[in-house]
Order: sequence, then C-alpha cells, then structure tokens
Amino acid sequence: TTGIKPLVAGNWKMNGLKASAGELAALIDGFDAGLAAKADAMVCPPALLVAAFAEKASASPVTVGGQDCHAAEKGAHTGDLAAEMFADAGAAAVIVGHSERRTDHGESDAVVKDKALAVHRAGLVAIVCVGETKDEREAGKTLDVVGTQVAGSLPEGATAANLIVAYEPVWAIGTGLTPTADDVAEVHAFIREKLVAMYGDVGGKVRILYGGSVKPSNASELMAVANVDGALVGGASLKAADFLGILAAYK
Ligand code: G3P
Repeated sequence: TTGIKPLVAGNWKMNGLKASAGELAALIDGFDAGLAAKADAMVCPPALLVAAFAEKASASPVTVGGQDCHAAEKGAHTGDLAAEMFADAGAAAVIVGHSERRTDHGESDAVVKDKALAVHRAGLVAIVCVGETKDEREAGKTLDVVGTQVAGSLPEGATAANLIVAYEPVWAIGTGLTPTADDVAEVHAFIREKLVAMYGDVGGKVRILYGGSVKPSNASELMAVANVDGALVGGASLKAADFLGILAAYK
C-alpha cells in the first residue's frame, strides 16, 4: 500500500435540482464510519447547489466540490464564478480542465493551469483532469498527450493536500467503455513519474483518480490498479446507491 487515502468524487456535471439533495442525504446515510475510515467521498453538484449541499454535508465526512471556476478573484466576468466564491459557499475542491470544458469551451492547458492556481489561491483542492481522445489513443499518442497536459495544466507549488489529478480518457466518458486494467496502470504510472519529476516527494503522494464509465460492477477491478487512488465518477454518482456501490470497492 502507498499510504494514500483514496477518494471517490462524484461529478454531477449539468444534472441535479434542489430536490436532488435527497441523493446527498442518502449518500451521507450510507457512508458509514467504517467506510469513511478507508476512503473519502466528495460530491460536485452544479454551482447553484454547492452552498446548500455543503451545509447539508457539514456534519458528515462527505465533502462538496465545485465544477470549474474563473481564474480571476473577482471582476467584470458576467456569468463566471471565482474559486473564492466556491470557498465561501463551503466547497472543499474545484474540478478544472475537464475534457468537457477543454472541448466545449476551448480551454487550453495554460487556461487550466491558471484556474488550478486560482483554486489554490482560494485555499481549495484543485482536481485537474487530463486524458486522450479515441483518435489519439488509436494513433498511439496517449502518453504524449497526457504528458503534455500534465506538464502544461498542473500548477506550480502544489502540495499532496491541495492537488488531485484525474485521468479521464475522453472516449471512456459516458460511453460505458473503459480501458483495460493494464492500460490504466500504464497511464497512471506515467502520471506518477511526471508528478515526482515536477514536485519531488510531494508527487509521490498526490492522488491520481481514474474517471470514465466507473460503476459498481467495474469499480473493484479499476480501483485495485496500481497508482489508482480513487475515482472521478459521472453518471453513476447521480444515484446514492450507485455511488455507494462504487465506494464499496474500498470496504
Ligand atoms: O468527471 C467524470 C466523468 O467525466 C466520467 O463520467 O459518466 O463516464 O462516469 P462517466
């Protein structure tokens, strides 16, 4: 064992209304002390729900995170949200660099890095996502692409407590497809090497999550892979029963 406590984080993406607090309540109920001793659990709902969710989870070991933020602290950026606002709302972390942001909003590695630095400035944990497309994998470019993203997107001065990397192969997101355990192991070992090169000892302790079609039926296999320190879960995080089914990999 590496001594790294695993984290299972749920990225709700653009799903969930006020009434979805029932799923959070069910997750908190099911996330018992025995399990909480072995793994951490986080829910990242749409921004409008962060404050209410953080309040609801405050007496539990479940933490709440945001999805994306602006790099600036405040100012004339209509419709954007600062990392400081997520901190103020009670979030513990913010996801940045998700492939849906990189694709839908054209975010470059430099933009993602600025956002991660903003998350740190606000005192929160930056969950930085990287991952190759199907074409890139088929062209044998996976490690090149992931290496470039890691080098360009990760913030200087990170600690093991405020940085998490999520490896999310784009072709595995929401498709039901997953890489083989060997393929996951290869990419995670590669990211670990890069982290150690960038941060020294700290790089050996930064959590590397796997994301992309994680569900209760494949969680045990994926979470057992070397250098996989948890999961970033999309679709299967929306229902507490599924999310707890994934967390059960750590029972
Ligand atoms: O950030 C998590 C995500 O992109 C994975 O989504 O639905 O394949 O678990 P999903």
